[in-house]
Amino acid sequence: MEPTNGQDYRDLARALVGLLDVARRTLSDEPATSELVGRVTSHLGCGLSEVVAVHERFPIWDHVNVQCGVDAYLARHGSAGTWFGIAAGMMRPHQDLLSRLAAPAPGPLGRAGSASYGTAATGPETDTEVVALGLIATTAPEGAPVVIGLRAEREFGPPYGDLEILAASRDAASATRTEIARLSAGHNVFRGQVLSFGESEHRGNELVSFLPRIPLDAQEVVFPAGLLESIERHVAGVGALAGELRNAGQHLKRGLLLYGPPGAGKTHTVRYLTGKLTETTVVLLTGRSIRFVESAAALARRLQPSMVVLEDVDLIAMDRDFSAGENPLLFTLLDAMDGVGADADVTFVLTTNRADILEHALADRPGRVDLAIEVPRPDAGCREQLLRLYTRGVAFDGDPSVIVAATEGVTASYIKELVRRAVLVSLRAGDRPPVVRQPHFDEVLAEMSAQHESLTRSLLGNAEPGSRSLPAVRRSRG
Ligand SMILES: Nc1ncnc2c1ncn2[C@@H]1O[C@H](COP(=O)(O)OP(=O)(O)O)[C@@H](O)[C@H]1O
Ligand SMILES: [Mg+2]
Repeated sequence: MEPTNGQDYRDLARALVGLLDVARRTLSDEPATSELVGRVTSHLGCGLSEVVAVHERFPIWDHVNVQCGVDAYLARHGSAGTWFGIAAGMMRPHQDLLSRLAAPAPGPLGRAGSASYGTAATGPETDTEVVALGLIATTAPEGAPVVIGLRAEREFGPPYGDLEILAASRDAASATRTEIARLSAGHNVFRGQVLSFGESEHRGNELVSFLPRIPLDAQEVVFPAGLLESIERHVAGVGALAGELRNAGQHLKRGLLLYGPPGAGKTHTVRYLTGKLTETTVVLLTGRSIRFVESAAALARRLQPSMVVLEDVDLIAMDRDFSAGENPLLFTLLDAMDGVGADADVTFVLTTNRADILEHALADRPGRVDLAIEVPRPDAGCREQLLRLYTRGVAFDGDPSVIVAATEGVTASYIKELVRRAVLVSLRAGDRPPVVRQPHFDEVLAEMSAQHESLTRSLLGNAEPGSRSLPAVRRSRG
């Protein structure tokens, strides 16, 4: 090995002294002003200790709307530079921006990095970029400099987002927050959409997703004459006169209960209404997600005109997790319906297979439901119409009167399934295109009324044996 000379030692010693110097500064109690802090304080024109923060927390599903509000704000008030970030890993959970900035952040940790981004849906098929962690310099409505911070926290506990406004004065920060809130409301991407409240697979957190709005023709909803019209009048007719009703001091909020056996068309009716009311925000809650009813009702109030659909409420009303008698979730639901002001253009639609279970709770607290409609099993006329509706795409060579007579007591969904199976029989017999003939129907009717199909029969909404006045499917004369 070559012997080292004196110059090398001196260089090494100098480097070590330099390193010690960095180490000393790093450990010193006096936090050096980091680049990040400098960027914020130089824009605000005051020291970090004088900075005021206004802070707002929101559920993560609202992130997209806050982002749209901030984007609209920046479009209007301009920004000094672009979004910048905080070195990855520097934010601790539940820490706000200001205390993060105030904490010592030496060397690379104190540098302003680039913002991080995520995506959020803005419709059934569209999405947008949202800032997951970033800051941007802009001005308050009155012109004072402010810094807006946005952050999504998904790692610890239920996910949420934080909007923080930093300024040299509380007034400037508050005014900015108010203006962003106003713009968020105006640019809310949920308005007029069909939304479903559910829970994430991950931790059972509240989740909002968009559903497509599919138009359904009135001809596709088969009910006794006048039934669909009275439902529609209650939901849509009141909304059409909203302004005048309000002026006349009358309440707008309405509650509709649809009850009837499974497969009779309650959900089908909701789909029809959703397709029809193209300007209405629709919020759907089913089963377990009914526990998010408070958030859903708050959203409905914000996004009027709106319709909140609570599907199969008997499931929660019968929930055995709750002690006898009182059912907190059912009362939460009724409270949430109550919490929406009477002058709100909001319709609550409740569906149930078991009106008897709800009757008591609803009777105890009148005014929540102002129209209860039975969605019945189809009579002979309706069964014939259903047969025609569901065979309209195939060649039909059966005897409607025989099929109608053989299906007394079934539900609409039963007729639909009957046709589907008859088409299958035709296809299996080699017909191309399929032709549904009377013998096909006879075969399927026999199959569907056979003993081993009793579960299928009750799932499709045919009467259980022994229940009142609802005979099991009879074999047709064929
Ligand atoms: N009244 C009806 N008119 C036409 N089709 C219907 C009707 N009722 C039910 N159906 C058909 O049966 C399917 C199941 O009915 P659904 O509305 O889900 O029943 P439920 O009353 O249990 O909510 C519907 O998607 C629709 O295709
Ligand atoms: Mg249903």
